[in-house]
Amino acid sequence: MLVWATGTIEETPPGSAWLSPAEAEKVASLGSPARRAEWRLGRWLAKRAVLACGFGTAAPPAGIEIRADHLGRPTVSVDGVPVAVAVSISHKRGRGVCFAARGAVRLGCDIELPARRRVGFAARWLLPTEQDIAASSRDPDAAATLIWSAKEATLKALGTGWRRPLASVEVSLDPSPAPAGWNPIAVRDNVEARTWSGWWQPLEHNVVTVVVDPPAPASGQRGPVSVNSTVV
Ligand SMILES: CC(C)(COP(=O)(O)OP(=O)(O)OC[C@H]1O[C@@H](n2cnc3c(N)ncnc32)[C@H](O)[C@@H]1OP(=O)(O)O)[C@@H](O)C(=O)NCCC(=O)NCCS
Repeated sequence: MLVWATGTIEETPPGSAWLSPAEAEKVASLGSPARRAEWRLGRWLAKRAVLACGFGTAAPPAGIEIRADHLGRPTVSVDGVPVAVAVSISHKRGRGVCFAARGAVRLGCDIELPARRRVGFAARWLLPTEQDIAASSRDPDAAATLIWSAKEATLKALGTGWRRPLASVEVSLDPSPAPAGWNPIAVRDNVEARTWSGWWQPLEHNVVTVVVDPPAPASGQRGPVSVNSTVV
């Protein structure tokens, strides 16, 4: 099951009792208060998502450690032992999201704030098929942001981030949101010649995207399952 958590910097618990010693050391080393706040937000959301996947204990979840690997990808251990749960974190202007799934899963997520795009944005960053999707949408800037976000989520799922060009992955989706809930995405990886599947939905003023491999198993619900906000 693919689960997700969202929250804001303001909602992040204060103090460091819920951080592992290594996490507390890491956050203290980060340069700016803004970076420390978004990093803590990501850890809090990741711990909630990992708990919802059945790992660790909630009171407090200091035994769950989210550590970046050499590429920056978040990895999870519980009481010092690596566990088989994939997580992906994203934050934007004080709001964050984290998705998680048990097992040998690859996933990546992204949250973006749709903004007015400079002339030439689509031509520079989107493939011709993606430019067509954006141009035929009712709100081309919002559609371009959504496509950009799905590309970034896929590069995170691949673990490369921007080390891989955005042009190496090609998004197809319908940019008109369903009245409520998650909307499907397909992303073709033109290097590995395979297609990722995922989801997107508006969240307040933002857009959230996630891709996952293998595709999220049927859970009786359509799309990722929200984590109870009272876990931590
Ligand atoms: C991963 C990346 C796409 C994130 O983009 P962003 O829009 O700045 O930030 P987001 O808030 O969406 O995501 C940040 C989270 O991505 C995760 N992340 C970082 N590198 C990652 C990677 N290689 N794969 C998967 N996830 C990664 C981290 O959890 C990070 O949050 P945290 O550091 O607070 O834990 C981007 O930072 C990147 O490509 N990094 C790796 C390559 C790099 O450093 N390039 C330098 C510029 S070319």
